[in-house]
Amino acid sequence: MTGSDVLIVGSGAAGLTAALNLADRFKVTVLAKGALNEGSTAWAQGGIAAVLEPGDTFEHHVEDTMVAGAGLNDRAIVELVVERAPAAIERLRALGVPFAEEKGALHLTREGGHSHRRIVHVADATGWAVQEALQRAAEAHPNITLVPDQVAIDLATSRHEERYSGAGNVWGVYAIDRRSGRVALHTARATILATGGAGRTYLFSTAPRGATGDGIAMAWRAGARVANMEFMQFHPTCLYHLEVKNFLITEAVRGEGGRLINPTTGKRFMPYYDAERLELAPRDVVARAIDAEIKRYGLDFVHLDISHMPADFVRGHFPNIYEKLKGLGIDMTVAPIPVVPAQHYTCGGIMVDRDGRTDLPGLYAAGECTQSGLHGANRLASNSLLECFVFGEAAARDIAARWDTLPDVPAIRAWDESRVTDSDEEVVIKQNWTEIRRFMWNYVGIVRTTKRLERARHRIDLLRSEIEDYYGHFRVTPDLIELRNLLQTADLIVRSALHRHESRGLHYTLDYPELSDPPVDTVLVP
Ligand code: FAD
Ligand code: SIN
Repeated sequence: MTGSDVLIVGSGAAGLTAALNLADRFKVTVLAKGALNEGSTAWAQGGIAAVLEPGDTFEHHVEDTMVAGAGLNDRAIVELVVERAPAAIERLRALGVPFAEEKGALHLTREGGHSHRRIVHVADATGWAVQEALQRAAEAHPNITLVPDQVAIDLATSRHEERYSGAGNVWGVYAIDRRSGRVALHTARATILATGGAGRTYLFSTAPRGATGDGIAMAWRAGARVANMEFMQFHPTCLYHLEVKNFLITEAVRGEGGRLINPTTGKRFMPYYDAERLELAPRDVVARAIDAEIKRYGLDFVHLDISHMPADFVRGHFPNIYEKLKGLGIDMTVAPIPVVPAQHYTCGGIMVDRDGRTDLPGLYAAGECTQSGLHGANRLASNSLLECFVFGEAAARDIAARWDTLPDVPAIRAWDESRVTDSDEEVVIKQNWTEIRRFMWNYVGIVRTTKRLERARHRIDLLRSEIEDYYGHFRVTPDLIELRNLLQTADLIVRSALHRHESRGLHYTLDYPELSDPPVDTVLVP
């Protein structure tokens, strides 16, 4: 058993921001399920939204966020996040993030749904620079212990106490060490889940392999409410390539002039779908337009073309994408890029308040695993890293403010493996993993119907007993833990989607094409 004051599960933008805001006062342990930089944060390309241009205002950023979110956002939370953005950028600069500059000021790029140039960035690899800076600062702090290769299995709650008090508290997590295969109990007076999204529930996703919704599933199993899981964001432009499956082509390519072309007709098609905002319409609109073109013309992909811009400009703005594509035989300065939509971001998640508190005492959450009210029915581009900084800090502040009222950790039972054996059929895990991701892609994708959702629900019901049976009889492994969580998040997504009888933001169903009034969150109660 290891103990610290505060336990953070996740070493991306949300987890490390929280750690840095706690460490001057508390002993903090941060767990990651693989290497510390394996979350989505390091993969972020476009940048971070903040009002920094003289002609821009907080009101514009709030309005753009609400429009993208189809009115389902919590306006007070949107205002809070937007207003804290410039200070968050300043703190990142102080940590050494080398944001791009032009003529002595920060260079701001544009992305879909933003009415102004508002995105600060480090060329086209913003997340990598942010992750490096946060990690460097955390590694240097004597009160922060960073522990990679620990896969959290479940939250340690009051029911794991040796003498159950019924208080419903969370006291840390059980996690398996990938190297030794042993399960250890990590306790703390406060626990923060910063475990990222659930993109890998889908066959095609821009998210890294570990985005299996672990935190959402753990919080749900422990009794926390989860909301708005039907709003899975599909990024319009993921590279279409037979070997490279999940390489994102940043929206900033469209922000800097890139156009979407139908390869059969040779024509730009966004004017038919959104004549005013064209390629810079919110993501749900652009992703649906591409999906419609692909289906109508029987295409494998559409083209994203920025070759009309000067080659130096393209190479200068998108050096990493340029090099990556060049290695695959595509020169984006002279030829179009084949692209398809792919799952990209989980808008829903564990319900948190403005201080990052969940329903369970002692449990906080921040970042992509949450539903804070910021994104509503569709996240505005580059608002998510921002959410991580604001809520990572908010959770830290709240823990510090309440520290004296948080109870001491009681005696908690160790992990019990006395009744399980080693698995004899690992193929079950692989088979089920692929099956879930495939039916989620085919039945719970960009355009939905009730019939398809029911099909998905039926498959989930069949798989549930098989996976739970497997979990109950065999020693846990990281793959089994992820499979169990994938099924749990798939279930939450499908249940939420079936619950919503309208088309709003990212949830588009042919059976209920209209909006219904007033906008209501889908809140699932365990
Ligand atoms: P992550 O950075 O995903 O970190 C999750 C952490 O949790 C990891 O350390 C992981 O190891 C750990 N973890 C998960 N499960 C467990 C477990 N069971 N046990 C232990 N540890 C666990 N957003 C923007 O705002 N701007 C962008 O330009 C942008 N570009 C993007 C590009 C791509 C390709 C992708 C995929 C996303 C992009 N996003 C962008 C979204 C943004 O990157 C994420 O929303 C954000 O980084 C999430 O940060 P996080 O801290 O919540 O989680
Ligand atoms: C991108 O660069 O297109 C991704 C931005 C985001 O997801 O916010």
